[in-house]
Amino acid sequence: MDAKRYAPATQRNREPILEVLQKYLSPQGNILEIASGTGEHAVFFASRFPDCQWYPSDRDAELRASIIDWSKECPADNLHSPLEIDASTDNWSIETADITINAIVNINMIHISPYSACEGLMAGAGRILPTDGILYLYGPYKREGKHTSSSNEAFDKSLRDQNSQWGVRQLEDVIAVAEANNLALKQVIAMPANNLSVVFSKK
Ligand SMILES: C[S@@+](CC[C@H](N)C(=O)[O-])C[C@H]1O[C@@H](n2cnc3c(N)ncnc32)[C@H](O)[C@@H]1O
Repeated sequence: MDAKRYAPATQRNREPILEVLQKYLSPQGNILEIASGTGEHAVFFASRFPDCQWYPSDRDAELRASIIDWSKECPADNLHSPLEIDASTDNWSIETADITINAIVNINMIHISPYSACEGLMAGAGRILPTDGILYLYGPYKREGKHTSSSNEAFDKSLRDQNSQWGVRQLEDVIAVAEANNLALKQVIAMPANNLSVVFSKK
């Protein structure tokens, strides 16, 4: 049975995200994607970074199966099998491998998970990235206590209605958690549909 899942947003946001990744990620190295979801981003980005090794991951087994089936449909030599990683834990499976992860990519996770996932992501990035390693985040944010659009405000409410621990995060809070884990803010980039790319580098 085909385990592929579909997330239509990936088709809309992958090109603008690629443009930012090509600017901030080195064309060579090892890239860990935390919360790869369906795997549609992983197959797309792996083929656009042919000289990098792309390591997708998700904590959800059904999504890891989807990533495997997307990888079969769109094979790439540099795309690895999905790892089981729950960002909120303090010992990610990749840490036992003898690999230097040069960049971590995390798209649309921190508002659709408890805040412990954001905190764990920052702690993990602080643990595993080398100096100048990049952490890339994409998603909607509140800025200085306010939503940046009425659509983000409505989205935030719908998230909180689904799960009281979910919700659009405050950019300044996320930057503070990053700083506490030796991750310096490098750039905030406005993206289509009121999203942001937020780029950190390891001190
Ligand atoms: C909205 S989806 C985004 C998936 C994908 N990045 C995308 O843009 O299509 C949120 C993802 O976060 C994952 N997730 C939620 N909490 C997580 C955690 N603590 N650790 C790792 N992944 C998590 C879910 O399994 C899901 O794949």
